[in-house]
Amino acid sequence: MKKTSILQPDAQALELAKQDILNGEVVGMPTETVYGLAANAFDEDAIKKIFEAKGRPQDNPLIVHIADLNMIDQVADEFSQTAQKLADAFWPGPLTMILPKSQKIPMVVTAGLETVGVRMPSHPVARDFIRTCGVPIAAPSANVSGKPSPTKASHVYHDLEGKIGIILDGGECEVGLESTVVLVGDDQVNILRPGKITVDDFLKVVSQVQVDDGVFTQLSDDRKVASPGMKYKHYSPNANVIMVEGSFFDFCNYVSKHADEKTGVLVFEGEESLFSIPCVTYGRQADSSQQANRLFDALRELDQQHLSTVFARVPDKDGVGMAVYNRLLRACGFEVVRMEKPLIIGLTGQTGSGKSTICKTLIQQGVMILDCDEISRDVIHEPEVMEKLVQYFGQQIVEESGDLNRRKLANMVFTDEENRIYLNSVMYPRITAKIQEEIDVLQRKGCRYILLDAPTLFESGADRLCDTIVSVLAPAELRRRRIMERDSITATEALNRMSAQQKDDFYRARSAYVIENKGSLEELERRTVEVFRLIKEKADGVEA
Ligand code: TXA
Ligand code: MG
Repeated sequence: MKKTSILQPDAQALELAKQDILNGEVVGMPTETVYGLAANAFDEDAIKKIFEAKGRPQDNPLIVHIADLNMIDQVADEFSQTAQKLADAFWPGPLTMILPKSQKIPMVVTAGLETVGVRMPSHPVARDFIRTCGVPIAAPSANVSGKPSPTKASHVYHDLEGKIGIILDGGECEVGLESTVVLVGDDQVNILRPGKITVDDFLKVVSQVQVDDGVFTQLSDDRKVASPGMKYKHYSPNANVIMVEGSFFDFCNYVSKHADEKTGVLVFEGEESLFSIPCVTYGRQADSSQQANRLFDALRELDQQHLSTVFARVPDKDGVGMAVYNRLLRACGFEVVRMEKPLIIGLTGQTGSGKSTICKTLIQQGVMILDCDEISRDVIHEPEVMEKLVQYFGQQIVEESGDLNRRKLANMVFTDEENRIYLNSVMYPRITAKIQEEIDVLQRKGCRYILLDAPTLFESGADRLCDTIVSVLAPAELRRRRIMERDSITATEALNRMSAQQKDDFYRARSAYVIENKGSLEELERRTVEVFRLIKEKADGVEA
């Protein structure tokens, strides 16, 4: 066990800390983002001590810190024009650039990669310290691996007491979240980890900015990630954190239903007075920079309350908010409850009854349409599905080109019930799964109303995905004429199809709304708009 001291960063303390660094020890160092655990970047044994003290996975590379550009040659093999432009704009500051590594940097620093993360911090103590040491400084955040990064000297002490000698106290970190990490391309960057320097900031310097997949989504273990640090659960307090996305009203509702005596909340400043359970704030809702500054301290504060679950408010995802959201996503292991679910309306009815017209009208009303026939056409071409069908129906359902002979298959199933049952048993489970995937995509895009246009809504089981169901019915003679014209088929083919479908009563019994389509087009449109209005009123009424 070492004796750990927090020292004010005067000349004497810097000298002591320098001795530690040059003797192959590690030191707690303030930066403007978070505190770092510093070691001589050239000293392999010292680097190993960093991994040991933090309990850090060996495959997660470290960032090397420099005091000024004179040091860059010792660290990176190449410093492109784009890198130079980025350095001019953002260094010293919270930007880490991934660059081709110099031979002098040992492989343990980069966890075996040929690239190295380089940063020139702006915190005066960090720069003085690196300059005093005279060597580039490798430093990850100075927390125990998996815990929130430290934004105060006391956080470092809490995590690493006994494992390190000196912590230089540089006060509270101004930014509060770690640097933005980017891959540097030719006049472009790819953001691996968002931070204080935002997409808009980069766009002032380079012409293209990408945000890596790993910023918002959980990458599977086996996927090769651009930034190894992105795959770990991170920043987590002991309690299980769950983000609850929705209005403050939705949030309160959810919490009141799910809280027990070991539940706490992480909310925006000003919201705390409404809770009688343990509550920590992380900045005002409209101030992403303040949230960044507060978040890690807030997560640590939650740990002192011995909670088992923490429900968290979801921050804005733009600008600096992207970084706040990214850290919270990792703190909660990607567990987000979404309250603002879109309203799913099922639209069904016999073929030729007028579903397409209704869809056209509803698009005008801001409804997103999912064409389930189209989805089923995609599904039928999936190799596993095709294989099963050919096995059952024979090669005759495949054209020479390898495409499905849809007409042949249609005739085989519309005239033979057993065939139809088999086809459906293969198709329906895949179709509903695919519909759900598409709903999820639309939900992420913020769609409020989604309509499933599905002739076989009930038969396929997709009705279970719907909040409400509308059927459209039309007289048989009218339908027969429409489908003959629409699909250029004979009267017999049309009648075959119609006889394979359900009768009016079937739909009436299962639908919240029925649209009778036996008048003019205008009447159909008017009735459609009316039904949609009723659906919205009912949904809002339930929500309120
Ligand atoms: O603000 C910061 O960057 C702080 C302060 C101390 O400078 N440091 C920090 O380091 O956050 P650390 O080790 O906690 O996070 C480094 C991140 C990890 O996600 C790591 O995977 C990524 O940078 N990284 C480092 N070198 C890399 C490389 N060669 N290629 C891709 N990603 C790299
Ligand atoms: Mg870290």
